[in-house]
Amino acid sequence: MDLKLGFRASPTISRLFDHASDCVILQDDTLAACRGLPSDFFKLIITSPPYNIGKQYEKQVGLEDYLAWQAVIASELVRALRVDGSLCWQVGNFVHDGEVFPLDIVFHPIFKQLGLKLRNRVVWHFEHGLHASKRFSGRYETLLWFTKTDQYTFNLDSVRVPSKYPGKLHFKGDKRGQPSGNPLGKNPSDFWSSLADEWDQGVWEIPNVKANHPEKTSHPCQFPIELVERCVLALTDPRDWVLDPFAGVGSSLIAAWKNERRSVGIDRDPTYCALAHERLMDFDAGRLKIRPIGKPVHKPSGREKVAQLPMQWVQEANAHYRTENGLWNDPD
Ligand SMILES: C[S@@+](CC[C@H](N)C(=O)[O-])C[C@H]1O[C@@H](n2cnc3c(N)ncnc32)[C@H](O)[C@@H]1O
Repeated sequence: MDLKLGFRASPTISRLFDHASDCVILQDDTLAACRGLPSDFFKLIITSPPYNIGKQYEKQVGLEDYLAWQAVIASELVRALRVDGSLCWQVGNFVHDGEVFPLDIVFHPIFKQLGLKLRNRVVWHFEHGLHASKRFSGRYETLLWFTKTDQYTFNLDSVRVPSKYPGKLHFKGDKRGQPSGNPLGKNPSDFWSSLADEWDQGVWEIPNVKANHPEKTSHPCQFPIELVERCVLALTDPRDWVLDPFAGVGSSLIAAWKNERRSVGIDRDPTYCALAHERLMDFDAGRLKIRPIGKPVHKPSGREKVAQLPMQWVQEANAHYRTENGLWNDPD
């Protein structure tokens, strides 16, 4: 671990809020824990809250009750956010009786009323998930990035991605013939995709954490560390404090520590908190399997068995073709 910024060789992990710790894991109810946090303190608050869709870690209630609860938490979070800080709220859909309520739409007015300013609505696209039968299958979620004021940190250079055409030149004016791009790469855009190729199309590739992902734990809805890392790198500076109020197995805490930021994570589930602690220790010991930031997503070559048409479909299609064309009766 880099010591130049005053970080210890291993993170000090505390179970109570403590300014002297590198990392604090609070096993508690989010609202109760937030009420005990200092005001104007966190440079970045980033989370994926429960979506009220009946996951194993939540009790589903009516949408209005859910939002009323979340609104109280939101006001505590805004109090705890620094004047130059950012809040990133990553959500999907609440679904009731087959009707879809995109949560970013309902959360936006809550944060707006608290004075925050929206800077980006990032679309996080992924390829895997349930196959819907009565609507198009959902393949993206969103991340709302708000700031508290106009004085916010945005370290674009820390998160640039390679340009598609780095050799492009200015074709007129004073700079004619000189490279027109930025040698550090281009802005990664507000579309983060696991499908399109970052290196070809300039989009962020972050697969969601499913069974074959190196980061998978027993948690059903983990953040990819890489997704949080982009926000940590762009929106905070070394030693800043990051808060994840629904921290699960600690993906945000790892992203913070990996980049020399300090963090607080809250989750009421003791198993998830223990896993978060274990993952931090594993990361520190170099044992945690994580997907490196910016690593291109694996693309099937077409030769893998799962990428090929099942033989049964091929035979059925052939049979159909023969029937349609009267080939079954062909004497040849
Ligand atoms: C969508 S998950 C977050 C997962 C996390 N981003 C990760 O990478 O592991 C939401 C988390 O909120 C926690 N949670 C739900 N209700 C809570 C409450 N009232 N207080 C504290 N934690 C709560 C759940 O235990 C769950 O781990």
